[in-house]
Amino acid sequence: MFEENETTFEEFYLQLEAKLREVVPHVEIRYKAELAWKINKLKKDKNAVILGHNYMEPALYHSIADYVGDSLELSRKAAETENDIIVFCGVKFMAETAKILSPEKTVLLPSERAGCSLAESITASDVRKLRMRFPGVPVVTYVNTYADVKAESDICCTSGNASAVVDSLETDTIIFLPDEYLAKNVARETGRHIIFPTYKKGNGTDIDFQMIGWHGKCEVHEKFTTEDIENVRKQFPDVVILAHPECSPEVVEAADFSGSTSGMTKYVEQTSMGRYLLLTECSMGDNILAANPEKEMLRLCGVRCPHMNQITLEDTLKALELNQYMIEVPESIRVRAAKAVRRMLTIS
Ligand code: 13P
Ligand code: SF4
Repeated sequence: MFEENETTFEEFYLQLEAKLREVVPHVEIRYKAELAWKINKLKKDKNAVILGHNYMEPALYHSIADYVGDSLELSRKAAETENDIIVFCGVKFMAETAKILSPEKTVLLPSERAGCSLAESITASDVRKLRMRFPGVPVVTYVNTYADVKAESDICCTSGNASAVVDSLETDTIIFLPDEYLAKNVARETGRHIIFPTYKKGNGTDIDFQMIGWHGKCEVHEKFTTEDIENVRKQFPDVVILAHPECSPEVVEAADFSGSTSGMTKYVEQTSMGRYLLLTECSMGDNILAANPEKEMLRLCGVRCPHMNQITLEDTLKALELNQYMIEVPESIRVRAAKAVRRMLTIS
C-alpha cells in the first residue's frame, strides 16, 4: 500500500503511525513498521504479491498488503496476478483457492495453523454421499471449504455472491454446503425452503425441500446473539448494526444490514450514521476506523477468529525468507475444483 521504493523508512513509519494511532498502541507501531519495511523489501526482491483478507490485524493490513478484500475479491486478484509468489495473509482455504486459480505460482500461507471451522465441517466423502442420496441435484459449495470438497461441487460461492449463484442455477432444488446459517440466510433471501438431511419425517422420507443444507458453522459468527443486539441498541440507540451472513438468521434479521466483509466495509464508508457495530471478526472494525477516523465504531472483541489471528507480521516475514508454507493441491483435485471456482467467477 506504500510506495516503499520512493520512501525512506522514517517517512514510511510516519505514514503508518498517522494511520494506526487510533487503533494500535504507540509503542508497537515502530516495531511493526520495522517488520513491515523488511517484508516490503523482500516482497519486491522476490517478485511476490501479498493478498490480505479484511480480518488481518490493523498493522499488517495497512502496511504490507498489495490488495485487501473479501474472499471473492482476493480470489479474483489471485487469478489475475503476474507475480511469481502469492503470499496469502488469510486462512488455508483462501490460499488453496489462490493455488487452484494460479497453479503455476508459488502460494505461501504464513502459518500452518490458519484453518477454519467451516472448512473442517465437511469432507469430500460427505459430498459424494449427499450426491448419491439426491441424484441430479446440483451442489453449491461455500469457498470456506478445502480443495477436495470444491472438486466434488458444481459451483462455489462466497458470502458476497451466494444468492446470485443460487439464483443462477435456475433449478428447483440445490444442495448448499457447508454453512448452516449462510444457507438459511440465502434460503430466506431467495424465497426457498431449506431442510437438513438428518431431519426426517416419521416415515423416514425427506420432507418437502428446495435447498438441502449441512450443519457447518463458523465458530466466530455463531456466537453473536439477538441479546447482543438488544443490549447494544439499548445503550446506543443511534447504532447501525451490520452482521456477516455467517451469523444466525435471527441475528441477521435483527441487524440493519448484512453483507460480505467488503460489503460491510463499503456500507460504513458510504453512509454517515452516528455509530456502527460490526458483528464479525473484531479486527475489521479497527481496519475501518484506521482508514476512516471520522467514523465511530463499536466492537464486540470477546469473539475473535483464532485462525485469522495466526497470521502475524513476524510469520509473514519468515514465509518470504524461507518460502513457507507452500500450498500444494494435487492436479486431479485442482482441475475439478478450478471448474467450480471459475464458474462462480463468471457469475458475480
Ligand atoms: P468474506 O468472504 O465475507 O470475506 O468472509 C470470509 C470469512 O471467512 C468470514 O468469516
Ligand atoms: Fe472460518 Fe469463521 Fe474464521 Fe471466517 S471467521 S475464517 S468462517 S472460522
